Amino acid sequence: MPSILVTRKLPSSVLAKLRSIGEIDLYTGDAAIPPDDLRARLAKADALVCLLTDRIDRETMDAAPSLKIIANVAVGFNNVDVPYARSRGIVVTNTPDVLTESVADFTWSLILAITRRLSEGERLLRRGEWKGWALDFMLGTELKGKQLGIVGLGRIARAVAARAPAFGMRVAYTSRRDSELAGAEAMSLDRLLNTSDVVSLHVPLTAETHHLIDKRAFSRMKRSAYLINTARGPVVDEAALAWALQQHLLAGAALDVYENEPQIHPDLLSLENVLLVPHLGSGTTETRTAMADLAAENVLAVLAGRPPLTPVP
Ligand code: GLV
Repeated sequence: MPSILVTRKLPSSVLAKLRSIGEIDLYTGDAAIPPDDLRARLAKADALVCLLTDRIDRETMDAAPSLKIIANVAVGFNNVDVPYARSRGIVVTNTPDVLTESVADFTWSLILAITRRLSEGERLLRRGEWKGWALDFMLGTELKGKQLGIVGLGRIARAVAARAPAFGMRVAYTSRRDSELAGAEAMSLDRLLNTSDVVSLHVPLTAETHHLIDKRAFSRMKRSAYLINTARGPVVDEAALAWALQQHLLAGAALDVYENEPQIHPDLLSLENVLLVPHLGSGTTETRTAMADLAAENVLAVLAGRPPLTPVP
């Protein structure tokens, strides 16, 4: 029977599926598996089901002589050295599609929450500082008639854009590929930053997108604009964001992802106009189960000698 290393507890239906074709080595710790432990367990693994918190680099793969597949339970796969896996003949898969709608909904919940000051208001109320309703108290900003600027044009970006008409927003986008989005305006990143009221990031983390949103980018944004990041933390230079918020170069930011998760830049923690949530974009029971299930289906396919369902592009 093949050996399948699973780095974190998965739904029992998914574990049962994996158990039907192999022997499972399940890491049951609460935090991410320590790299040494991961390497030691990989010595006999034919398949690896891992999470975005597991760094699967060259050294890790070198400890895995019989590894055939790395099934990442995430759509992003910046935690895996894909070119090295390819050179070793190891298949890498991710979990696209199943999380698209859930992340798009979540992105909109951040847009609504930051523009209507939900977390700021809740903090104030819990501190016992609410003095009662007043006409001019804690006013937010409307979305209707404003521009949503989407950076990247993958599945999640498109699903976020599809929801914009419900809030009366027009959509602008910037994409390095030549893809198009009907009813929305394509523009350069600089122009998008310059003209958008809400900027939402939907690019994968690569060498090109690392710190794509830096000091220079913040200085191009409208002072009334909001930044939303549900992509990957290092796409934004967090120190530059804290600086830009302190300088009032933008009105606010809502972040689901961070440069060094689970650490948060200390300057962000003390700012009121930033909404900080702990990487919950795809976090519904239905979606997380579907993601784990898709990873398991990829393992089943590859171990049976079939092509994977969702190899990374
Ligand atoms: C979550 O961040 C994912 O990439 O699925």
